[in-house]
This record gives sequence, C-alpha cells and structure tokens, in this order.
Amino acid sequence: MNFVGPYLYLLPVFCLLTCSLPFLLFGQNPQPTQGRIRSSGEPIDPGPRAGAKGAGAAITGLTANELAYFTAGAEVFNEIDDVKGTLTGSKGLGPAFNLDGCASCHAQPSAGGTSPALNPQLVRKNVAGALNPTEFLDGVLTPSGPVREMRRLSLGGGVQGLFTIKGRSDAAGCNLDAPDLRNIPASDRRFRIPTPVFGLGLIEAISDETIAANEAPNKPFGISGRANRSGNDGTVTRFGWKAQNKSIAIFAGEAYNVEQGVSNELFPNERRPSGSIPGCLFNATPEDHADLDQSNPLRQGGDVAAFANFMRFLAPPAPSPSGYATTLGITVTAASITSGQAVFSSIGCNLCHTPSLTTGLHASPALSNKPVNLFSDLLVHDVGTGDGITQGAANGSEFRTAPLWGVGQRLFFLHDGRASDSPSAIEHHNGEANGVVSRYRQLSVPAQQDLINFLRSL
Ligand code: HEC
Ligand code: HEC
Repeated sequence: MNFVGPYLYLLPVFCLLTCSLPFLLFGQNPQPTQGRIRSSGEPIDPGPRAGAKGAGAAITGLTANELAYFTAGAEVFNEIDDVKGTLTGSKGLGPAFNLDGCASCHAQPSAGGTSPALNPQLVRKNVAGALNPTEFLDGVLTPSGPVREMRRLSLGGGVQGLFTIKGRSDAAGCNLDAPDLRNIPASDRRFRIPTPVFGLGLIEAISDETIAANEAPNKPFGISGRANRSGNDGTVTRFGWKAQNKSIAIFAGEAYNVEQGVSNELFPNERRPSGSIPGCLFNATPEDHADLDQSNPLRQGGDVAAFANFMRFLAPPAPSPSGYATTLGITVTAASITSGQAVFSSIGCNLCHTPSLTTGLHASPALSNKPVNLFSDLLVHDVGTGDGITQGAANGSEFRTAPLWGVGQRLFFLHDGRASDSPSAIEHHNGEANGVVSRYRQLSVPAQQDLINFLRSL
C-alpha cells in the first residue's frame, strides 16, 4: 500500500499535464475529466444513482395554498420564453441570452436540478428559430459537456450572453449578431455550470447566526472559512457558487435577466450586450411584473414571484441510505454507505461539508425549525479552484462549500464542471482542503470506495 501511496499524488499531476494542457497555459477551465483512465488501485465512481429520482416534488407539510403556488410556480419554471409572447405565451427573451427556459438548464434529474447529459444549449441551437446559431462556440460548449455560462474576467466576471434573438421569426429587424467568441481569449474566459435549486427554501430559512457560528480562522487541518456578506446591509449571503446572493427571489430575478434577457421588477433594465441595440427592443420594461389585472391570483405576482414560490417550496433531494443500484449497473450496499459516511467524518470532509444545519423560526411552518441535511457550511473557502472573480466578500480564490445533497444523481461537478465523477472532484480539492485530501489519499482503496459510494447515496 505504501508503494501505491506516493504515486497517487502524481496521478492528478499526470492528468493535468496530459488532459488539461490548455488550463496550465491559459488559465482556462478544462473540459470535464470524463473517461479518465484510472489505475486499478483507485476507487471508481459507481455512476449516477438509478431508480426513483427522489427530487422535484414539493416539501411535505405545506398548506393547500402554498402547494397551489408551488404548482403554479413549477409551470412557469418549465416555460420557454419567446421575444414577444406570441409563440410560447411568455415574453421577454433577449436581446442576448444563454437559454430560453429555467428548466432547460436546471434539468437533471428533474426540473430544478442541474445540467443534463446532452448540453441543451447545443440541442436547442439546432431547433429552427430558437437560438441564433453562432459558429464560435468551439471551446465554450460541447454536445456532451455541461450547460455553461461564460463570464469574462476582464469585465469583472460579468456574464457574456452566448446567443441573440437575431434571425428569429419573432424578432424581425433585430441585427444584433451573436458575439464573436474567437475575440475573447481563453485567459479571459471563465465558466460556471448550474447549481441545483432543490431545497432552497430550507437554505434560505437558516439564520445568519447559524451560518456565522461555523466561521473560524483556525479549524483543524488548516481549514478556515468565512461567510460571504452583502455589501449593502452586511447580512450573510448564501446562494450561488460563491454564496454571492442573498435570497431566492433576488437570484430568480437575476437569472431571468442574465440567463434569458427578461427584465423584471428586481432587475428592471434590459442588459445591453454592446451598448446600443437598435431594433432589438420590442417590449416595454420591465417585461415581467406583477399583473394587477390578472384574474388568476396564482399568477398575479408575475414570473419572478412564481419562480421563487416554486424554488422555496421545492423539497431537498431524497438520499438512499439503505442501498441503491446505479445507471452503470453497479449495486451498492447499506453497509458500504454506512462505512463511507464514517470515513467522510473521520478524515474531515465534514469540517466544510457540514452534514446538517437547522432552520430558524420561519413564516411557513413547513420550513420552520427543520433539519437541513445539505452537507455544506455555506461558507466560502479557498480549495485551490479559484477563478479570479470577486463576488461580494468572496475573493477570486474562494467558493462556497458545494452542498452535497443530490450529488448521487449529478453528472458534472465543481463550479465549471471540470470533473465528471466524484473521485476526480475530490482530487481537484487543494488549498484549505489539502490536509483532508491527504488523509483521503492515505486511506485503503476499499475505504475510499465506501466514501465514494456514500456520496452517490446522497
Ligand atoms: C443558461 C442556463 C441557465 C438558465 C436558463 C437558468 N439558470 Fe439558474 N443557474 C445557472 C448557473 C450557471 C448558475 C450558477 C451561477 C453562479 O453561481 O455563478 C445558476 C444558479 C441558479 C440559482 C442558485 C442556486 C443555488 O445553489 O444557490 C438559482 C436560484 C437559479 N439559478 C434560478 C434560476 C431561475 C429561476 C431560472 C429561470 C428564470 C434560471 N435559474 C435559469 C444557469 C442557468
Ligand atoms: C476546506 C473545505 C472543504 C473540504 C475539507 C472538502 N471540501 Fe468538498 N468542496 C469544497 C468547496 C469550496 C467546493 C466547491 C469548489 C468549486 O466548485 O470550485 C467543494 C466541492 C465538492 C464536490 C463537488 C460538488 C458539486 O456540486 O460539484 C464534492 C463531491 C466534494 N466537494 C466532496 C468532498 C469530499 C468527499 C471531501 C473530503 C475528502 C471534501 N469535499 C472536503 C470545500 C471543501
């Protein structure tokens, strides 16, 4: 075993050099490490959990009205937007955007989740009239890679819309070309994949004090961790890869504007990708707003309120602690999962991936004083995956401890999707996680395997 140990350290170095040379040269994010050849002395990812999805339904204990608003919100979350509302009934798309519906990006394993196996941005690009095709997506999107949003370091990390409405039947007169991405050097490109929105109401209901209680500069193994905070009111922010956003509603308003180009009451102005965009503005703003003439009370609040109701009342993913089969045909036993959970705590993964936090007193009894088994402290840490982008108090090196609930059915891992299995995701941890990862490397392979099997049970 001591023979293999030192060489395991070299494996990621070997892979970085061979599979990810561009990353070293340009600081660009590499393609997922899918299909990385592993030596027989390494644990394997048993693959995404098969069987019941265990995700996508409402949280238990809602009132009849809360459930009605959840269901109405789910419908809006699943809608496809068009430019004027004449094709799909929901207006405001563009001028620039990354895709035309929330559930298109948040899809795996059900609406609210993350990137599906086939990149919907490229699938929909080929649907006539849906997205203005750009020929310049090489190195940005791949058919079997994750949904990606591109940020530009030189623009302070601002999101670059990859598509425009030019050429659509409902946007005659708009001549805004899709950006020529060849002009954006690899060193300026940063990528983010979608985070799942399951269980967000529970995360929102955790008090600031509960999160701040875990902040500490000197935890074991060189771990620290601090809360990201709003520059406006100093309160703890918690949503997104850098914990950069304060609330579900704010994230919904921002996503509608940034990803789909739909202006709304929280983000009331159109994003202008290149200053002036004559001929591409078709609607009065905000395009989405509370509709006081709407006779259906469930839709009176407008789309952003509907998204927020859906995500707030969406249940967390259900784990499978008593064993499961995977899409690769592997069966994992309860005994292995139990051992893996013990390993997770004994080597210190739990120092950042806190198994459970508790909500405070919340206006909805279904969210009040509840355990939140998210496997995250919601603090930001430097684990060596930094992208140079500052968001709020999170600096260019820091990311939020990614919640691990639902990881059992995930296809892509880490903020830019650089890993497509959990052993690679662990190997990419560095920085503050060094002490824990070196303990992981010292484990026997069966113990490592139990840990991986435990992750896929979540
Ligand atoms: C083009 C793909 C895409 C579309 C369309 C999209 N999202 Fe997202 N979503 C993302 C990405 C990428 C992130 C991660 C952003 C980050 O943190 O940098 C994200 C993150 C989120 C989060 C944060 C969840 C968390 O873990 O804290 C919420 C909430 C969210 N999206 C809601 C929505 C809603 C509502 C819509 C529809 C209006 C939507 N998204 C449409 C790609 C998309
Ligand atoms: C110092 C804090 C820290 C420690 C210790 C730590 N992690 Fe993480 N983990 C993070 C952060 C931060 C991220 C997100 C990094 C990114 O996306 O760039 C992450 C991401 C992950 C992911 C990917 C999840 C996703 O949504 O893509 C997995 C899986 C994971 N960690 C498992 C583990 C395991 C297993 C251990 C123990 C061997 C561990 N982590 C130890 C902070 C930590």
